Amino acid sequence: MLQNKKILIGVTGSIAAYKIPILVRLLIKAGAEVKVVLTPAAKEFVSPLVLSTLSKNEALVDLSTNNSWANHVQLGRWADVLLIAPLSCNTLAKFANGSCDNLLTAVYLSATCPVVVAPAMDEDMWHHPSTKNNLSKIASYSNHIIPVEKGELASGLIGDGRMAEPETIVKWLEDFFLSGNQLKGKKVLITAGPTYEAIDPVRFIGNHSSGKMGIAIAKELKKCGAEVTLIIGPTQVELPVVNQVIKVRSAEEMYNACDKIFSQTDIAILNAAVADYTPVIVAEEKIKKQDGVLEIELKKTKDILKHLGEIKTLKQFLVGFALETTNEKEYALKKLRDKNADMIVLNSLNDNGAGFGYDTNKITIFDKQQNEYSFETKTKTEVAADIVNTIVKLYV
Ligand code: CTP
Repeated sequence: MLQNKKILIGVTGSIAAYKIPILVRLLIKAGAEVKVVLTPAAKEFVSPLVLSTLSKNEALVDLSTNNSWANHVQLGRWADVLLIAPLSCNTLAKFANGSCDNLLTAVYLSATCPVVVAPAMDEDMWHHPSTKNNLSKIASYSNHIIPVEKGELASGLIGDGRMAEPETIVKWLEDFFLSGNQLKGKKVLITAGPTYEAIDPVRFIGNHSSGKMGIAIAKELKKCGAEVTLIIGPTQVELPVVNQVIKVRSAEEMYNACDKIFSQTDIAILNAAVADYTPVIVAEEKIKKQDGVLEIELKKTKDILKHLGEIKTLKQFLVGFALETTNEKEYALKKLRDKNADMIVLNSLNDNGAGFGYDTNKITIFDKQQNEYSFETKTKTEVAADIVNTIVKLYV
């Protein structure tokens, strides 16, 4: 998969830089062409001589040496992918803010190829809000982020922040080239998680959706080059780094957020478990205990999928979900028709390991022509890849 791929590696000042010679060897072995650019700080952690020897190309550090100028624009144009590994906090902040103070930051700013980063930092730095903000910022520039791993850190602490292992990075790049960036430039809206319908200031009607499935799909879409807006209900799960995350609470807020951006969207995937009913009246004060039965009158919420199905143009692609316990296929196909979706993903609660709370899922997909695509029980990440691949097949 990496045969003849041109990979430009940017190395920054982080202890994880000691793993880059191994990464270069793996990439060369896989048939890739490799060039390396280091920041001045990276030289303290790994030798340019070793990287030059292994990559068979001079590893560059400075914008100019002995009256010769390293052409950062050409380097960025030569590469099929610019991989920054390890990405330190400092260089991340520079990327997020457009600083240009060394060869690598100049290459980054002028690169026309996809940019992939493998961050490495200590756990507390990794969890700092400014790191999260900077990562969100570079994700909004359509940079791809290879997740950090948990384990022993340079500080001696154990936690999140380790750079992905060289083998993981190679696998990520293989998947990336395999997925071929098929959704590059496509704007995708995805809803995820539950909604909470307020009863009074302290109580709500909710459901068990964790948001994990929608988050896995959002990550997969990003990997395929899509511009992703995630509209998500209340969840404890860590949010992914995508182009935009809009947090909502109620079905109405989710409806309004979807309605607002749908016209600028190519693909909409409605994975959220939206409440079908909401209290007619939300009590202004906390409802006090009383004798007898408490009745709460409920009214129907607006059906977002149905609404988008009514207003969608021929160029837009709409995906719905159906969670069923009986007559699964019949009900799923009815939803597909009634809501004018292009594709529906069926989860059956009768399948082991499928549904709310599990890390696995089992799905069957139906398209408008009633073609059926069945999949085994898989992890939610794998299921997300199956869903996105099917969308690519049917839409792109
Ligand atoms: N959906 C929506 N807006 C709602 C309710 C559901 O967009 N107010 C979407 C979900 O995100 C999902 C699909 O519609 O994509 C689910 O269809 P729905 O008919 O609501 O399923 P159920 O809630 O299971 O309904 P039913 O009780 O009829 O099976």
